[in-house]
Amino acid sequence: MDKLIQQTRERWNALANANVMHSIPFYDYTVDQAKTYAYRHDIIQDAKGKDVLCLASGGGQDSAAFGILGANVSVLDLSDVMLERDRMAAAHHKFSIQTVQGTMTDLSAFSDDSFDIVWQSISLNYCPDVTPVFQEVRRVLRNSGIYRVAIQNPFGTAISSDWTGKGYLLRGRYLDGEDVTYYQPVWTVDQEDGSKVDIDTPHLFRHNLSTVLNQLARRNFTLLHLQEWIREGQNPEPGSWVHFTQCSPLFLDLFWQLTSDNP
Ligand SMILES: C[S@@+](CC[C@H](N)C(=O)[O-])C[C@H]1O[C@@H](n2cnc3c(N)ncnc32)[C@H](O)[C@@H]1O
Repeated sequence: MDKLIQQTRERWNALANANVMHSIPFYDYTVDQAKTYAYRHDIIQDAKGKDVLCLASGGGQDSAAFGILGANVSVLDLSDVMLERDRMAAAHHKFSIQTVQGTMTDLSAFSDDSFDIVWQSISLNYCPDVTPVFQEVRRVLRNSGIYRVAIQNPFGTAISSDWTGKGYLLRGRYLDGEDVTYYQPVWTVDQEDGSKVDIDTPHLFRHNLSTVLNQLARRNFTLLHLQEWIREGQNPEPGSWVHFTQCSPLFLDLFWQLTSDNP
């Protein structure tokens, strides 16, 4: 196992053991909540009976939403602790699940054309290079299949959330593939008892928008929808989290359709 992969796994295990938000399964989810989650933007209409891969999306959230809706769910993730949360969510909601521990750059556990949907929550940025991930997604996705991939907003990575009184500082350049972990080297996780736990952030890499869009377009993916992630709120206070996300959206949510098997 290479050093980066090993370190990412250890750090995500530590985050999950500290119960970071992304690792808390959707135990209370109803069918309606699952529909709101999985059928956002009206792209996916009905997941029942569909083969869904939650790619590097462990934690019992994405898998729970699709499991509740009657999909055949597989999850591939690096972190054994995150995968355990998927199994716990599946047991809770009483659906069966396949969990695979591995890296998103190698989907050899799955044969060609295995899935109708590949659903990737915010995890692409843990890989320094998008190429092997997109190659593998295209291979395992059936023709006309949907690939949902959420990425960190590459324009926002270098913007500080500290309000200067006049604005938010842009601290660095827009460099494709840059290891941007140094902007936020520590992830502070709030605990139930009010204490905080500091965990080293898993290494994160910026992927410029042109890289992501062009790499997928070249592989015959058609963009169906793009959504910026911001926190809702009227007239937010400058310096507040809501205000910051409305100035610099944190994530971009992209929905693609594989339109042909040709490269
Ligand atoms: C932010 S979580 C995503 C899923 C989460 N349920 C959510 O709420 O967004 C990021 C996940 O990516 C996984 N991950 C990071 N690097 C990976 C890699 N190279 N291959 C597979 N999984 C990876 C982590 O273990 C973690 O579970």
